Amino acid sequence: MPDLSTALAGVKLDNPLVLASGIRGNNAQLLIRAAKEGAGAVTSKSCSLQAREGHANPTAIAAPTYMLNAIGLSNPGVEAEIEEIREAVKKAGVPVIASVFAGSAEDFAAVAARIAVAKPAIIELDISCPNVHKEGEMFSSSADWAVGVTKAIKQKVRSIPLFVKLAPNVPDIGAIAKACQTAGADGITAINTMPAMWIDVRAKRAVLANQYGGLSGPALLPVALRCVHSVRKACPSIPIIGGGGVTSGEDAARMLMAGANAVSIGSAVWYRQNAFGEIRQELAGFMKEEGFHKLPEIRLEG
Ligand SMILES: Cc1cc2nc3c(=O)[nH]c(=O)nc-3n(C[C@H](O)[C@H](O)[C@H](O)COP(=O)(O)O)c2cc1C
Repeated sequence: MPDLSTALAGVKLDNPLVLASGIRGNNAQLLIRAAKEGAGAVTSKSCSLQAREGHANPTAIAAPTYMLNAIGLSNPGVEAEIEEIREAVKKAGVPVIASVFAGSAEDFAAVAARIAVAKPAIIELDISCPNVHKEGEMFSSSADWAVGVTKAIKQKVRSIPLFVKLAPNVPDIGAIAKACQTAGADGITAINTMPAMWIDVRAKRAVLANQYGGLSGPALLPVALRCVHSVRKACPSIPIIGGGGVTSGEDAARMLMAGANAVSIGSAVWYRQNAFGEIRQELAGFMKEEGFHKLPEIRLEG
């Protein structure tokens, strides 16, 4: 049997499949469920200092090849989230990654410092959600902003590895990843959703109440592969959680070939009955057929 184990900044995973943030990760039970289904690590829904309601309905649509959502980062606030993370850390049996977001570098540092008390294995900074800021205003759209947030958190939280989650809709994602690494990021998560829109021609209006949303699912995979490959070229040694549109073992292998150390699974949980168990099995089958014994052997050479 091929060895599917991997490591992210010293955190060991039995297999490389990581539940993506916001996907069935709203509470401890759902994180534990993903772990039981075979995830190698699980990421919680992004939380902020204060509770947040999110956008009006409809907030999501699903088509055979893509999903579009503008949930608007609804969450119960960090104090309630601490309890969920504590419970998941105790019971999931796999590393728990806590995702946080905020509107300023100071608030990012404050929310990260609070969530750290729940002792997640990794803290992930969601600086790339397309649904909360005006266009082009994500922290991840500017290397300077991304560096400011990363530095502010690293000054406050030293004991837990920090992964910065980047957006695909930037001219040079590799340069932003490199800037984050220089500022102290221990890893990169790539990618978040891609800003998009769908229109109901008969109703003559945008389908989502927010008009714009984030594209995920199979249609995102080629974009995500290019982004992960660019981050790997810019940062040859940084741990990368690569994801976006992965729905099969071969897709996971593509992501590992592009340079990822672990592979996030998001929308696939709606496309497949038992996404983690099945994708893990397919990846192992692919490796066996192709004569790969360990994950690092899969990576493309150039
Ligand atoms: C309904 C929904 C909610 C999401 N919420 C978050 C979130 O709170 N924080 C975050 O960093 N990403 C969030 N994402 C983005 C996913 O974590 C992932 O980066 C994206 O969906 C691409 O991966 P996929 O194609 O495998 O779904 C969300 C995605 C979806 C579909």
